[in-house]
Amino acid sequence: MEHILEAVNYINSVTSSFNPQVAIILGTGLGGFADNIDVAYSIPYGDIPNMPVSTVQGHAGRLIFGTIGSVKVVAMQGRFHYYEGYTMKQVTFPVRVLAKLGIDYLFVSNASGGINTSFCVGDLMIITDHINLLPNPLIGPNNEQLGPRFPDMHDCYAKAVRDKATDIADELNIKLQYGVYVGTTGPTFETQAEYRYFKAIGGDAVGMSTVPETIVARHMGVPVFGVSVITNCGLSDQKGDHEDVQLQGRKAGERMSKLFVELIKRLY
Ligand code: HPA
Repeated sequence: MEHILEAVNYINSVTSSFNPQVAIILGTGLGGFADNIDVAYSIPYGDIPNMPVSTVQGHAGRLIFGTIGSVKVVAMQGRFHYYEGYTMKQVTFPVRVLAKLGIDYLFVSNASGGINTSFCVGDLMIITDHINLLPNPLIGPNNEQLGPRFPDMHDCYAKAVRDKATDIADELNIKLQYGVYVGTTGPTFETQAEYRYFKAIGGDAVGMSTVPETIVARHMGVPVFGVSVITNCGLSDQKGDHEDVQLQGRKAGERMSKLFVELIKRLY
């Protein structure tokens, strides 16, 4: 808690208590979303007390504060993955800080492998639910000031926000898929047998992020909205490739950005 508050106090001092309403975690290749923000402050992670520093290719590492329309937002450009060697507490530390800054919503985005065979590369999938195959970030003593010992995970990805996204996508002619995101540790892409297994247990897409951040946001009562860019199709013969994942992420990122921007404007 002390570490969280130290980071919160630092951010508030630098941003004159900007008090963002919506936080957005930008996934692989989706950094371009930041161009939609009328930027007020940009803080490198390295300046924030107790913040881990990002290492993976394609992840910059800063918090961007600004406005989209009349909504005050903060974007996390660069996130922390368990496969990089961070602890689950480190992976989710930024979400604790964002929640303590008083956000009303957390938007998460990621690149993922399609399990559902009706998905195509470049599709956007609204995350309707998840299956967690990573260590749970809430393991350990619970701090009741942050949230309950046994948090409820119904409506984990807020239905009201998802419905609004569906309406906006219809208007903007953006094709959407819907499905269950399976969160794995990585860093290996899945074997064919693992893909078949994830399909059997009810997964539609698989990736190496998002679930820990969502769990921590829900622990603190913050509604979550998540979108996954399908960058490859696991049950086809194609191999997983980080560069291709980044390319597909960037291409679909434009559509996702449009959806996020319009949705953020209409949340209030
Ligand atoms: N598996 C896991 N993570 C991913 C994939 C995948 O196929 N594609 C993009 N991120």
